[in-house]
Amino acid sequence: MKIAVLTSGGDSAGMNAVVRSVVKTAIAKGCEAWVVREGYEGLVRGNAHQPTEGRPGKEDASFIYNLRFGDGELLKDGTGDYISGRSLKGRYIVRVGWDDVRGWFGEGGTLIGTARSVAFRTPEGRQTAAYNMIKEGIDALVICGGDGSLTGADVFRSEWPKHVEALKAAGKITDEQVNNHQHLRIVGLVGSIDNDMSMTDLTIGAVTALHRICESIDNINSTAVSHSRAFVVEVMGRHCGWLALMAGASCGADFIFIPEDPPAEGNWEDDMCKRIQSHREIGQRKTIVIVAEGAIDKDLKPIHADYVKDVLTDRLGLDTRVTTLGHTQRGGAPAAYDRIMPTLQGIEAVEALLEATPETPSYMVGISENKVKRVPLMEAVALTRSVGTAISEKNFKKAMSLRDPEFAE
Ligand code: F6P
Repeated sequence: MKIAVLTSGGDSAGMNAVVRSVVKTAIAKGCEAWVVREGYEGLVRGNAHQPTEGRPGKEDASFIYNLRFGDGELLKDGTGDYISGRSLKGRYIVRVGWDDVRGWFGEGGTLIGTARSVAFRTPEGRQTAAYNMIKEGIDALVICGGDGSLTGADVFRSEWPKHVEALKAAGKITDEQVNNHQHLRIVGLVGSIDNDMSMTDLTIGAVTALHRICESIDNINSTAVSHSRAFVVEVMGRHCGWLALMAGASCGADFIFIPEDPPAEGNWEDDMCKRIQSHREIGQRKTIVIVAEGAIDKDLKPIHADYVKDVLTDRLGLDTRVTTLGHTQRGGAPAAYDRIMPTLQGIEAVEALLEATPETPSYMVGISENKVKRVPLMEAVALTRSVGTAISEKNFKKAMSLRDPEFAE
């Protein structure tokens, strides 16, 4: 079997550990391991040309060398054209070897890249992706991304026979290729710092992002105490308040705003000020309010950190600052758990691919009660969209359009 792995959607710490684990497990089980650069966009772009030279002494066609473990032929980095010794220009679906992913579990972000692919959202784009995979003989895909990316994988799988039929009719693939590629095997792993997927206790990258936030709030705490100041800290979480809530519990916030639980009836400004005032009256020298990026009020209007700051300044006379943690939450080296969990899940993903039949559902590999588990992917997506977030889909759309007038459904 030829197994390819790709990362999709926003990057998260632990994605490289997924790639490493899938590549090594695939090879250990006698499969060929491939990576797709730049997410689904790479599948659509495919390989404009084949490599012209092999790497001397390498049987398993290693193309992507970790810069630190490469063989000294470094050219350019960061251009997207070269990852190390070999030009990858025009090549997005790349066979890799054991050494290519050595040490990757300690690296932040995703070294094989991620992109938002407009083309893959169209049936034509997905057909091109199928063609590019069949050309390379790939019949199994591990996708690490959020619920949108994983849903895309399931759609791709269900359409696959149709794509094969169309490619055959167009004379683009041979009868042998048709026979060898009747079905696509897929498995999803959930990479998201927001911990926003049902049927898994943790998504890959959430623990690291939470730790990053805690470090920042610890730093803010010491300067806040020094000046007796208030800080409004904005954290990520467009639809999901897990990071905000857990950060509040770990660092001691006075008030927290999350999208799933808009402040109840009445005036939240009064409620917040009353509580903070009472904390100050018992001698607290600092105030921390955490606002999730997607926090909304009961009318679904966004609660902005700057507005919270104005309320604290105007009503309580607190010297207040806003700190937006932004992408510092997403980057950087993975915490230990975001190395171990993706490693175990990568192994499970390859095993699921090897056991997959046309009848088995598309699986998502998650973790539940500290055990790595396969669950039906689309069940997890459906649950995430219904009960996973307390604001309904309709309300979510309204909230998004109030926040961003250009928001398109
Ligand atoms: O990965 C999800 C997320 O972290 C959200 O919480 C946040 O709103 C978003 O990514 C930011 O995405 P981008 O990097 O595209 O601005």
